Amino acid sequence: MGRRCCWWRRRLQVVACLGAAILLLCAALRALRPAFENKALGSIWLGGARKSPLQRLHDLDQGTRSPLAEVHRQRRDLLRRACARHSRRQRLLRPEDLRHVLVDDAHGLLYCYVPKVACTNWKRVLLALRGRARGDPHAIPAHEAHAPGLLPSLADFRPAEINRRLRDYLAFLFVREPFERLASAYRNKLARPYSSAFQRRYGTRIVRRLRPRAHPDALACGHDVRFAEFLTYLLDPRTRRDEPFNEHWERAHALCHPCLLRYDVVGKFETLAEDAAFVLSLVGAPGLRFPAPPRPKAAPARDQAQRLFQDISPFYQHRLFDLYKMDFLLFNYSAPSYLRLH
Ligand SMILES: *[C@@H]1O[C@H](CO)[C@@H](O)[C@H](O)[C@H]1NC(C)=O
Repeated sequence: MGRRCCWWRRRLQVVACLGAAILLLCAALRALRPAFENKALGSIWLGGARKSPLQRLHDLDQGTRSPLAEVHRQRRDLLRRACARHSRRQRLLRPEDLRHVLVDDAHGLLYCYVPKVACTNWKRVLLALRGRARGDPHAIPAHEAHAPGLLPSLADFRPAEINRRLRDYLAFLFVREPFERLASAYRNKLARPYSSAFQRRYGTRIVRRLRPRAHPDALACGHDVRFAEFLTYLLDPRTRRDEPFNEHWERAHALCHPCLLRYDVVGKFETLAEDAAFVLSLVGAPGLRFPAPPRPKAAPARDQAQRLFQDISPFYQHRLFDLYKMDFLLFNYSAPSYLRLH
């Protein structure tokens, strides 16, 4: 009972409050707390026919815990403690904070997508859950998975509707070691020949700003930006004054706001297959398999990040670590050993 009370109390307390009107709703939710504690949530989910993913997670936390459920409980606790320790005074959530949170009403899911962390495959899975491609995520092309408007965002709903979903749905996100994600973004969007749209948009901007006597080809195409130049661009205060970082290199905490929203499952790219299977077991969609990446990538990703960072001066390494520090702290990543921070 004690644990169960805590669980719901925390969840209700963290239900986000959107503006003054919603503060009232939050107050109402708190008043409702005893009712929630006495009622099995499964019975109010879809007329009681099926358990919601959130209810399944709750059951796991009550019963004899599987080792995997225990790992996820510890990650949630660590995130909550890190938020209490490191995040600045809580502010109110704004609808635009929720743009990356995708909604599956049929299954009761909220997924905050972080680019470069298997988000294409998660979007495929969410589309397959909606019956697209006869439920086979593998059959959905990447461009279709990213097509705007196919998956509703939590930002599209009215505040009361947002709060209901935040309260009742299982919210999850997937994160990745911040510098491996950054190295992956650089390689994918700026270093590869097929990323010409990104190179024209961001590469040319970086060349114009950083190279006094740039070659006309580089000015026109932005195709040869070096990693050091990319980092200089990220650390330049003008960059974020002009507009927010592009989502491929924006910090995960700034995309998903894990200290304002309550996440029930924090998945990691480093253990993608197990964590994805855990989420899908909560969804209760037998037969749905998370698309496997083409080959195991964990070790090479680290090597590639290390190779890119070895040419970066300790001064810049330090400043970059500061920029991404919250992602390291909130998601329990330690500073990579190849950095020269001292
Ligand atoms: C945090 O990371 C450390 C070191 O990798 C690990 O031993 C520990 O289990 C992690 N804690 C959680 C809650 O994931």
